[in-house]
Amino acid sequence: MPILDSINAKARAARKHIVLAEGGEPRTVQAAAMITRGGLARITLIGDPSTIKAEAAGSGSDISACAIIDPETSELAGQYASALYELRKAKGMTPEKAAALSKDPLYFATMMIKLGHADGMVAGAIHSTGDTLRPALQIIKTKPGISVVSSCFLMEMTGNPAAPDGLMVFGDCAVNPEPNADELAAIAIASADTARTLGGLEPRVAMLSFSTKGSAKHERVTKVQEATAKAKALAPDLKLDGELQADAALVESVAGLKAPGSNVAGRANVLVFPDLGAGNIGYKLVQRLAGAEAYGPIIQGLAKPVNDLSRGCSVGDIVAMTAITAVLAAAQ
Ligand code: ACO
Repeated sequence: MPILDSINAKARAARKHIVLAEGGEPRTVQAAAMITRGGLARITLIGDPSTIKAEAAGSGSDISACAIIDPETSELAGQYASALYELRKAKGMTPEKAAALSKDPLYFATMMIKLGHADGMVAGAIHSTGDTLRPALQIIKTKPGISVVSSCFLMEMTGNPAAPDGLMVFGDCAVNPEPNADELAAIAIASADTARTLGGLEPRVAMLSFSTKGSAKHERVTKVQEATAKAKALAPDLKLDGELQADAALVESVAGLKAPGSNVAGRANVLVFPDLGAGNIGYKLVQRLAGAEAYGPIIQGLAKPVNDLSRGCSVGDIVAMTAITAVLAAAQ
């Protein structure tokens, strides 16, 4: 079954409440109508009701099943301002700043998630990755036991012998520019979790490098070796190995030569890149040159799910990311 069909089925069963923080944005309004029509999630749109309703009328989108909340007039803004002040006062938050931020749609939506008034949030169609994720990083924070928030992509491709499951998980391709060994270990464990939750995969995690099992000596190789050891200590039952070059991770004949005896080499379905340069370039190459379908970035490691869209996203991308967010919320 295509991965999106499987995710949509899980989302329908989960019946989660997802907040779309950019409620007046045209693609978001159309996506909200499709999501509620398809039963993928309950939706709250954040923004000015007259703008949202005018957008819906203009595009013929039926948003009658969606709730709309305007942070400028909502009585919840006062509650969110007090809670935000308490959460962030040690970081220099003042009551005045908290009151102003609680009227910002991204902070308002993030506080809804934090206080359990909704299950997850999607934004980023008109905001940068940093602006979308910063409130979540500051307020929602990481899951217990996970030291860093990161991201992955689901890469769907059929008929490729290097991807026998038809689906791979690539992490981190969007958040941490230079992860250290501890952070890389956390990225590996979170990516394996996402592979199970969203992909239904039994993860086999390759810690990628330009070296296989000591073939090169460099501080960047040492970092991946340390991350491999840390991840194995944190998740002893996880099939994970490193450091591996991409061919040793993906091709059995190369694995036999370069990493004999590895329980991952030649059969990896989760690729952990050593830094954001490699991860971001790597997923785009596989998407553009190999024709893989790329779903993401999927944010992982947050205590509650918040997901970021590309500013070039389509209506379908918003629908898919909302379903992904609903499934992540159900898993928590
Ligand atoms: N995990 C957990 N917490 C984090 C993380 C993280 N990865 N990054 C930042 N934080 C926390 C900080 O500890 C801090 O918390 P505090 O205020 O309670 O002390 C808070 O978030 C803000 O920290 P900053 O360092 O100010 O973070 P900033 O907001 O500047 O940056 C961001 C975070 C936006 C994710 C940054 O790492 C970034 O820009 N990454 C690259 C994003 C990007 O451009 N990706 C490529 C494009 S995406 C694509 O192509 C699909």
